[in-house]
Amino acid sequence: MTDILKIGVLLSGSGSNLQAILDAIAFEDLPVRVVVVVSSRPDAKGLERAQLAGIPTLALDATRYVDPLKADALIVEALQDAQACWVVMAGYMRKLTPLVLSSFPQRVLNIHPALLPAFKGAHAIEDAFLAGVKVTGVTVHLADEDYDRGPIVAQRAIDVCPNDTLESLEKRIHHIEHTLYPQVLRSIAQGRLCRGEGGKVSIL
Ligand code: GRF
Repeated sequence: MTDILKIGVLLSGSGSNLQAILDAIAFEDLPVRVVVVVSSRPDAKGLERAQLAGIPTLALDATRYVDPLKADALIVEALQDAQACWVVMAGYMRKLTPLVLSSFPQRVLNIHPALLPAFKGAHAIEDAFLAGVKVTGVTVHLADEDYDRGPIVAQRAIDVCPNDTLESLEKRIHHIEHTLYPQVLRSIAQGRLCRGEGGKVSIL
């Protein structure tokens, strides 16, 4: 039997990945419960999506991040109060301090719209497109203290077509994100995440 995986989602923006997870829970029997959503911005659309779904939220703002450790203490408190087992970053634009990482060791996920370790950073799709790569994709990885770094859990590659525009590429990348993140969460809920030698991670 698969236990329900309780997750806390961290976001800063549109929250389309949060929505994809909520839709997979509702329509594809994804054995996950989003127990809290934390936003680094009070105006994030992702907060509205959470509220519409009846999920408790915590909204921080720039003043809270003047002391990143204090901000993360609030986040950890919210995650623990909600009994989250995993932390799922979905467009969260703040660096995590060791406080979150040590409170949820090896249980913080991030999704990135490129094939890491290539094209880290906030403009990955555009950077890859402008570089003229012929293949790009999506990465889900365990987070560490650096942006877009940590053991890779899953990747999906796509071809960049000669007639792709930045917009068409973005659309396809986001579509892949919206299927890959729920798939990874299902694997974790099923206990199929395997930690191997040298810190490597795979899905059985
Ligand atoms: C996604 O492209 C994700 O890979 C990146 O930030 C974006 C968040 O999008 N880390 P959304 O807020 O889930 O729509």
